[in-house]
Amino acid sequence: MRKVAMALVKPGEKLAKTIYGADGTVLLSAGIQLKERYIKRLKDFGIPYVYIEDSISEGIVVPDLVQETTRIESVRIMRESLKNVQLNGKLTSKDLKQIKKIVNDIVDEILYNKGVLIGLSDIRAVDEYTYGHSVNVCVMSTVIGIALGYNQLRLRDLALGAILHDVGKCKIPKELINKPGTLTKEEFELIKTHPEEGFNIIRQHDEISSLVAHVAYQHHEHVDGTGYPRSLSGKDIHEFAKIVALTDVYDALVTDRPYRKGILPHEAAEIIMASSGTHLEEKIVTTFLRNIALYPNGSIVRLTTGQVGIVVDQNRGANSRPIVRIIDSEEEIDLTKHLNVLITEVIEI
Ligand SMILES: [Fe+2]
Ligand SMILES: [Fe+2]
Repeated sequence: MRKVAMALVKPGEKLAKTIYGADGTVLLSAGIQLKERYIKRLKDFGIPYVYIEDSISEGIVVPDLVQETTRIESVRIMRESLKNVQLNGKLTSKDLKQIKKIVNDIVDEILYNKGVLIGLSDIRAVDEYTYGHSVNVCVMSTVIGIALGYNQLRLRDLALGAILHDVGKCKIPKELINKPGTLTKEEFELIKTHPEEGFNIIRQHDEISSLVAHVAYQHHEHVDGTGYPRSLSGKDIHEFAKIVALTDVYDALVTDRPYRKGILPHEAAEIIMASSGTHLEEKIVTTFLRNIALYPNGSIVRLTTGQVGIVVDQNRGANSRPIVRIIDSEEEIDLTKHLNVLITEVIEI
């Protein structure tokens, strides 16, 4: 299978992954042949991409760190809980219990799938940003935690802090959160209150570690002291918050928003690298970069030889050098064995 932008999907193509609507209901099931009106419906729902199975992508698997059902259930729980926070101003114990349970499932599944690189396999409607964002930040942060050798207890705290990092945004008017373009100084000052609001919401629950609340409080701090709300720097920022700071930025970069298209993983990786040592901690950046697929399976790439191919598999430890199947000849090139061949660009067909 491969991921194709909605604009390029043609009638007759076969859907490789089920598409779910905002409430978790099935919009279209995997295996179905796309008709003109289905394509229109998906576009109306704001679905930016679909996974299709065609002759060039045959047999290509896009592995996911967590099962699709777990991901959908987590998004549903986050949607429900965050809406309740918006209404009541606090996180209820019942909602927290559900969140803790799903976070533990996420951690267990990622531990089980150890070795799978962070890909880009979730498709969400553009208006679902906040909920999907929380879950993605949780998944990616857990992968970093595992790579840093955290035990299960630490991973659970990190993952819970990650999924709740933006809970304070529930206290800020929605129009402001989703406002495209630049914010006025006053608006930005208001946005800047969400880490402390989040801290206050989480710390009302003494059954969870205060570290979880500190992740929310510190996730916009920068290691060089230029972040907010307290301009903390270096060692004063907890490592959990440094991890979430990175995955938060990365997810925002690669995700499509109503006002701009997300950038590709290898482009986002460049930006993350450029922030190493200033906004982000070097050790966390290095660990993260070793654990993402820069060119996820199914990406169409052009090589320095001029050939165009599709990424069929990853090489762990050399994630800029995947295995590429050339489209015309079906020849497979393992880029770790052809060091003179590089990927020059990612194209869409
Ligand atoms: Fe935030
Ligand atoms: Fe965030």
